[in-house]
Amino acid sequence: MERVYNFSPGPSMLPLEALSRARDEMLSQGGTGMSVMEMSHRSKAYLEIIHGAEQLLREIMSVPDNYKILFIQGGASAQFAMVPFNLFRAGRADYMQTGQFAAKAIDEASRFLTVNVVASSKDKKYSYIPELDKSKCDPEADYFHITINNTIYGTRFTTGAGTSGLPDTGGVPLVTDMSSSILSEVYDVSKFGLIYAGAQKNIGPAGLCIVIVREDLIGRAKPGTPVMMDYKTYADNESLYNTPPTFAIYMAKLVFEWVKARGGVAELQKVNEEKAALAYGFLDNAKVLRPTVAPRDRSIMNIPFVTGDEALDKKFIKEAETHGLVSLAGHRSVGGMRASIYNAMPLEGVKALVRFMEKFEMENK
Ligand SMILES: Cc1ncc(COP(=O)(O)O)c(C=O)c1O
Repeated sequence: MERVYNFSPGPSMLPLEALSRARDEMLSQGGTGMSVMEMSHRSKAYLEIIHGAEQLLREIMSVPDNYKILFIQGGASAQFAMVPFNLFRAGRADYMQTGQFAAKAIDEASRFLTVNVVASSKDKKYSYIPELDKSKCDPEADYFHITINNTIYGTRFTTGAGTSGLPDTGGVPLVTDMSSSILSEVYDVSKFGLIYAGAQKNIGPAGLCIVIVREDLIGRAKPGTPVMMDYKTYADNESLYNTPPTFAIYMAKLVFEWVKARGGVAELQKVNEEKAALAYGFLDNAKVLRPTVAPRDRSIMNIPFVTGDEALDKKFIKEAETHGLVSLAGHRSVGGMRASIYNAMPLEGVKALVRFMEKFEMENK
């Protein structure tokens, strides 16, 4: 069967190797005579899968020993509430507002504690990462929240020197939504108190969320926190308090194996940087198409661009489909185009996109 280059922001392309393996194992998982979906989550065969997934993620992200890895349901959005419930101490938290998901996180947290928005880029349609004025930060805040990669607007906190870097939060735990960039570049986990990521971009099926949390932040949830929203429930029971999303965790394990086989996150990062440089290299010199994000803050996962003419944008998206390049429409709230090029998008897919862009430029001068 013909596969397309799928530029969807999520759910998005998964590695062919992981999908093929799941297909091969669909009817009988590891010689058990049953699918992983039919298997007790307490069986030996399944415990090997969930523990294996955790170990692999720990290895490929170099997660320090004093951090727990939790498999939680409810997508990344459930974390918008779980973070304030679990990290509630003084009842105040600092947030940077860098996109729609950051705004949703702020709205949700505001229902449970006092949110201080310390910086925002809403004034320019979230097209950049704002500078942080440290005097606005609360040194006694329960935590400081950022969305490290903004899926809709294609911006990210770049972690290298001379860039917009990570905010220096002193002793305040740094919490990040890493849904659209986990495993795409090397992150130093020890810089964060808590990382959460919805699985449906670089990990596996939607609905599953990975939480990586420093141990000292677990076990002090706000009184009244529901059992299923307390990180301690997951930490104490190895994410097996109730029936976890078994198939999603199995797929995540296959993807983690793929990451390891590809040489790990550092190797994937090199390919991701090459893919992004190729796309941006073309867009920066194009006449009809133009990128919307300033070079300093560009995501290497989500690349938004526009023609400036809605009808021409639509034409681009429609014609691209006939070349096997699909899901290139920008988010419904912003329009234009967006190429999401997560780990599973091969370099060839970006080359095919650039060839199509060249053709489009020639024909629409
Ligand atoms: C950065 C970011 N945060 C949160 C979400 C919401 O994730 P979910 O739909 O899993 O709740 C998304 C969804 O795509 C996202 O890109």
